[in-house]
Amino acid sequence: MSINHILAIETSCDETSIAVLESSKKELRVLSNVISSQIKLHAEWGGVVPNLAAREHVKNLPKVLEKALGEAKIGFSDLGLISVVNGPGLIPALLTGLNFAKTLAYKLDKPLLGIHHIEGHIYANFIGGISNDEFQISKHRSVQNSKFKIQNSTNIKFPILCLVVSGGHTQLVLMKDHLRYEIIGQTLDDAVGEAFDKVARILDLGFPGGPAVSALAETASEKLKAESEKKYKIKLPRPMLNSKDFNFSFSGLKTAVLYETKKLKEKLPATDYGLLVPEICHEFQQAAIDVLVSKTLKAAEKYEVKTVMLAGGVSANKELRKQLGLAVSELLHDTSYIIPDTSLTGDNAAMIGAAAHFRWQKMSEDEKENSKNGWKTLQANANLKMA
Ligand code: KG4
Ligand code: ZN
Repeated sequence: MSINHILAIETSCDETSIAVLESSKKELRVLSNVISSQIKLHAEWGGVVPNLAAREHVKNLPKVLEKALGEAKIGFSDLGLISVVNGPGLIPALLTGLNFAKTLAYKLDKPLLGIHHIEGHIYANFIGGISNDEFQISKHRSVQNSKFKIQNSTNIKFPILCLVVSGGHTQLVLMKDHLRYEIIGQTLDDAVGEAFDKVARILDLGFPGGPAVSALAETASEKLKAESEKKYKIKLPRPMLNSKDFNFSFSGLKTAVLYETKKLKEKLPATDYGLLVPEICHEFQQAAIDVLVSKTLKAAEKYEVKTVMLAGGVSANKELRKQLGLAVSELLHDTSYIIPDTSLTGDNAAMIGAAAHFRWQKMSEDEKENSKNGWKTLQANANLKMA
């Protein structure tokens, strides 16, 4: 069974997204990737409200579908495969996308594949152009620093070590081949994105916290260079930096920010405290990056990987992208560094379609045939594990 166009749907959290990808054995291209964000709506509540997210997905899905098909310039009859995130995520939100996908798959009599959200984030790294019968790193991938070992013509070679950093996950995933995942380390408490969001809440910076904290951190690093003398040196811990495993912990770091902030607020006049907020952000971000980079490098050495990758919402963080890239190019030999384009770091459906494409290529004809029953059998799972 061959498919030409994949429709992909993502509704695991607060982004309603539908994408159309053109897929063949040798090529994968994103024809459209429409994302409708609900961030403003949830910001009023200081976090994502699951039932509110679900209601918005129901309202948005038909409009987003129309736009995605329109931009791709195709109709329903051109679709060969439907793919949808079926976990992990917020159950009310997941169910809206899943039921929408099931209705389409039933009505159009098409195969339906469920994709793991993190698998999607990882596969955002594989979306691109093609030459020499292989998937290539394409212009979709942003490369700010030519010192990084990213070249447009380099293939993505296995084994890959992917540092997954999002609002719900912090994991080191070893991939010896496509769709084979071994989690060699993960956070024992908060995910790093969650820590960014909680620190933003402590510092009254709004929701989501990651972009706000990193923007303020950037202003601090410029100021730090200019100022030689500092009245108050903010120093935060680097949890588990020297532990022998590849696990992480970010809850203590967030609590350290809470105590430091309390102390500074009590000790200093409000204006002086205000001036130090960017520095708190800078030190927090650097503490998180130090641990992430150090563990990733150690794991990459141990498993002798050929590629280090970054994935998930926090992979939008400029400093993390830069510092991990520099560490890989300076300390690891013959290891490529691959990062997703910034337009693909957050939740989006193109990454789901990319994962579906690779899954489809590996499926037997029987499995392909069975996926036509997906509209009956596919289930959502808030805690879905990566197979
Ligand atoms: O992957 P994602 O969009 O959703 C989940 O799957 O969780 O990740 C969202 C997370 C949020 O915690 C957000 O604060 C964080 O990614 N984030 C960032 C940045 N942009 C988004 N964290 C640090 N720096 C950023 N620039
Ligand atoms: Zn995500």
